[in-house]
Amino acid sequence: APIQAPDLGDCHEPVDLPDTAPEINCCPTYSAGTVAVDFTPPPASSPLRVRPAAHLADRAYLAKYERAVSLMKKLPADDPRSFEQQWRVHCAYCDGAYDQLGFPGLEIQIHGCWLFFPWHRMYLYFHERILGKLIGDETFALPFWNWDAPAGMSFPAIYANCRLSSLYDQRRNQAHQPPFPLDLDYNGTDPIIPEDQLIDQNLKIMRKELFMGQPYRAGDQPEPGEGSIESVPHNTVHRWTGDPRQPNGEDMGIFYSAARDPVFFAHHGNVDRMWYIRRGLFPRDTDFANPDWLDASFLFYDEEARLVRVRVRDSLDEAALRFTYQDVGPLPWLNARP
Ligand code: C2O
Repeated sequence: APIQAPDLGDCHEPVDLPDTAPEINCCPTYSAGTVAVDFTPPPASSPLRVRPAAHLADRAYLAKYERAVSLMKKLPADDPRSFEQQWRVHCAYCDGAYDQLGFPGLEIQIHGCWLFFPWHRMYLYFHERILGKLIGDETFALPFWNWDAPAGMSFPAIYANCRLSSLYDQRRNQAHQPPFPLDLDYNGTDPIIPEDQLIDQNLKIMRKELFMGQPYRAGDQPEPGEGSIESVPHNTVHRWTGDPRQPNGEDMGIFYSAARDPVFFAHHGNVDRMWYIRRGLFPRDTDFANPDWLDASFLFYDEEARLVRVRVRDSLDEAALRFTYQDVGPLPWLNARP
């Protein structure tokens, strides 16, 4: 059977928090008795949101994005659309704040399994729509950190502009600020090889078969196994970005705090773009036809602060969800030999 959406009334302390993390609450706002509505895609006539590469974003876009995030940060902390609530959504689903329905004491974990891509896709979907709503722009689209191409292989400068920017987060690795080259296979130590060799190595990593992660069903123990993209470069870029002066590499370097850094959404924009590209290249062997995958469900709040139940099958049609990615040219890694 598929993993079912949690009971928000039964959210508890995150059981996976490391000992060195502060005590935090990642349960989302919930008033008892709220019933979730089933997801419906936006009207087919709504504008297509074209997600730009962060390194190509222009000033007008940046101003819009900064304003949207700053409005989100100013919403009352208990508004489910506030930035405070948005990062908690991620924390709750990845640090064990929910038990599986019918399996008390068995946590829900959307990492390390086949739910990784669909869950994050829908998380971004709602985050993006909330930001657009706040600035009254139905075309607003999140940027993606184009780390699979040489031009995107450093920290995206729009997030590092100045301390006053709503996109800034001080808990980041200070040694990895732009234009310092990104190491997609980062293991905690910066490599001492020339930049062109590093880029070449990064492209070879991208060429590795990407895949979805292991089956994970109701009653299963968490983290049966991650797909290759989830381990590298997803996890590695998290670690590369987080602040080594913090006990757990906060913010980006550890699950519970990762989404406190706005760059999380650009990182996951590109993770999602990898799924999008993969689905285009190998339509038949990317997704699963299995109902235990297709009917797994989650809960999110939408731009109207309505609680919505989403199933994996709702996440599969990017065009119906009204988003796409800026075309940044041929994939430089497609022909890199591993
Ligand atoms: Cu849910 Cu990048 O982690």
